Amino acid sequence: MAYPRKVRIFEVGARDGLQNEKQMVPADIKVELIERLVEAGVTAIETGSFVSPKWVPQMADTADVMARVTRYDGVTYAVLTPNARGYEGAVASGADEIEIFSAASEIFNQKNINCSIAESLERFIPVTEAAKRDGIPYRASVSCALGSPFEEEIAPAAVADVAKKLYDMGAYEISLADTIGVGTPIRTQRVIEAVAKVIPLEVIGVHFHDTYGQALANYHAALEMGISKLDSSVAGLGGCPYAPGATGNVATEDVVYMLDGMGIESGINLTRLVKTAWFISDYLGRAPVSSVARALKEKLN
Ligand code: HMG
Ligand code: MG
Repeated sequence: MAYPRKVRIFEVGARDGLQNEKQMVPADIKVELIERLVEAGVTAIETGSFVSPKWVPQMADTADVMARVTRYDGVTYAVLTPNARGYEGAVASGADEIEIFSAASEIFNQKNINCSIAESLERFIPVTEAAKRDGIPYRASVSCALGSPFEEEIAPAAVADVAKKLYDMGAYEISLADTIGVGTPIRTQRVIEAVAKVIPLEVIGVHFHDTYGQALANYHAALEMGISKLDSSVAGLGGCPYAPGATGNVATEDVVYMLDGMGIESGINLTRLVKTAWFISDYLGRAPVSSVARALKEKLN
């Protein structure tokens, strides 16, 4: 057991969260959300994605959001890019870094980005070559790392295989995503073990959705192995429109509360974060799914 002393939280609420909302959230609300998160101490944030607006209309205004957001030094403003066209949009918007994404499930990949896993890796070659040329760091995500909505079982070896290929393409982090939130702690550790046999443990990140209420336990299982790169989403927003049944990512408030209790530094101020969770939830017209946000509501004023 070697818990990290410090972790880096990648806040994905403005992208993974809002991509899944039925109602269109206007750019000014997205901008305020991002700025409030940064004021709460978030230093790495996904502001949106440059994907086809036909596929994910909720993210069509990412360029506008990027143009309007007040940028702070020391904060990484990242966007998701599915192809070379998305990369061009990312660069034009001034993104600090990008995320490329594939999956351990063939069917999910097909439904999400309309190509096979092998084709997606091919498609990312020009993106990564351009990013290297432009000095833009990139991380990579492996969806369905702990299960798929379409297949019975995802073998840890299949996750390791895609993770290794993305790492060999120069990604500085490989984020293992439990897209539909089905993982459990021992399963999480088995998959991380399999991936850590082929790439360094230090570059492995985790991105867990909380559909079955297991995400915090799974983060704890990952922390126990020394993983220090965690994705989470304010107010527990999120899901993937192409993964049936996927609900939100684990709430950043719940993760920060757990980390605070364990003496692990995240740099995020819980009170400000909870206020931000209520800001976006009030806008969306519902309470945050986060137990911590609900428990702390009365203590905010
Ligand atoms: P396609 O239909 O195969 O591609 O989609 P295409 O090249 O034929 O393009 C279709 C149309 O989109 C064309 O427009 C293109 O110009 C346009 P048309 O000629 O019909 O008017 N287009 C674009 N527009 C803007 N930006 C672009 C872009 N590319 C093409 N970058 C494609 C292939 C990859 C584009 C599509 O499948 C797509 O955009 N998919 C994205 C789906 C998505 O965003 N899913 C959610 C994010 S992933 C996720 O949430 C998982 C994650 O959180 C980890 C986890 O939890 O698992 C990361
Ligand atoms: Mg996700």
